Amino acid sequence: MDLAELARHTGAEVNKYYVGLGQTAQTVPAPDEDIVTMAAAAARQIVARHGADGIRTILFATESGIDQSKSAAVYVQDLIGLSAATRAVELKQACYGGTAALQLAAGIVARDPQQRVLVIAADIAKYDLDSAGEATQGGAAVAMLVAANPALAVLDEPSGLYTANVQDFWRPNYRSTPMVDGKLSIGAYLEAVEQAWKDYEGRGGRGFAEFAGFCYHQPFTKMAYKAHTRLLELKGVEPTAARLYADLSRTAVYNRMIGNSYTASLYVALLSLLDHAEDLTGRPVAMFSYGSGAVAELFSLTPVPGYRDQLRTAGNRAAIAGREPISYENYRAVRDFALPDDGAELTVPAVTASPYRLTAVSGHSRIYGADR
Ligand code: COA
Repeated sequence: MDLAELARHTGAEVNKYYVGLGQTAQTVPAPDEDIVTMAAAAARQIVARHGADGIRTILFATESGIDQSKSAAVYVQDLIGLSAATRAVELKQACYGGTAALQLAAGIVARDPQQRVLVIAADIAKYDLDSAGEATQGGAAVAMLVAANPALAVLDEPSGLYTANVQDFWRPNYRSTPMVDGKLSIGAYLEAVEQAWKDYEGRGGRGFAEFAGFCYHQPFTKMAYKAHTRLLELKGVEPTAARLYADLSRTAVYNRMIGNSYTASLYVALLSLLDHAEDLTGRPVAMFSYGSGAVAELFSLTPVPGYRDQLRTAGNRAAIAGREPISYENYRAVRDFALPDDGAELTVPAVTASPYRLTAVSGHSRIYGADR
């Protein structure tokens, strides 16, 4: 949905969204899509290219969980046909969970370099209707394969860490949308950038000038500009518009059109950078992960020789361009569609063009199908 459609409903000047938030559109998943179908669609591409040998762990990071007990990773293991000799679990810490999964995966691979770990970050960002957060909704899934000899980038040491108990965004079990104090969350995010950077420096991290790129978690792309301004000021660099544009614009191309995808957002920013930058072989990229509540981590990735052969630029662009534009009215119809919460049986209408879909709810269970 183009945010001009939302502006038509809210009466906001559309540039509040296009310029003020740095968002042009938001992904609205179809009724027969959820984090499982999105995750399976992302993961099957990586397994198709790299094979399944040695994958004995799936770590699924999300804050859009479909079950309080069973992990979404189990459904993905089944849908994409991974071995039964797999551990499949779900991780949660707001938008930070994907980074936690990545670091835990690195630990598993360090202990046994024969193993590879499938890390998935998938979320659907949904806020209350007519709330300020509604303009920052979206959804996406990113799959990553963590291995001893990575084909894309090396996960560097050290990390800078920061945790603070902040009530900026949370979702009690009885709610389908989060409680959010937007302004508090922006302030908490900026504080986390500064503190995580200081911890990173204290642990002997790279010098600021060594980075060829800066990827930030992007709840809306303007947030990356606010965060980078804070970091530049901390390092005594003037945050001119030209400097900010040079450092960040290539990281925001996809998220501007997708909207927030919580755990996936930082990794969508990385894809956007890799798909639009010059050759970054051997040139470290700073990664800042933030999850409300709040946990943050600053670390770096260094693209390896040959990484450009692994990029899926055309596929990523096609996935974004292939979405069907919808009006505000159609968006509301999708929002109004709800799965039963009383055990009723439901056949879910077939809408998505994804290879996987949610076909039914039966016996209190979600039933998935692979159409292709
Ligand atoms: N043209 C250009 N810019 C405009 C504008 C216009 N016509 N009208 C407003 N703006 C700018 C504002 O100046 C502001 O920019 P600034 O923050 O750089 O000053 C921006 O647009 C947003 O306007 P604001 O009034 O602050 O928006 P809001 O109060 O309606 O909500 C959020 C903004 C981010 C708080 C809200 O979307 C939200 O709660 N999001 C969910 C939580 C979240 O994403 N948190 C981020 C950290 S995790």
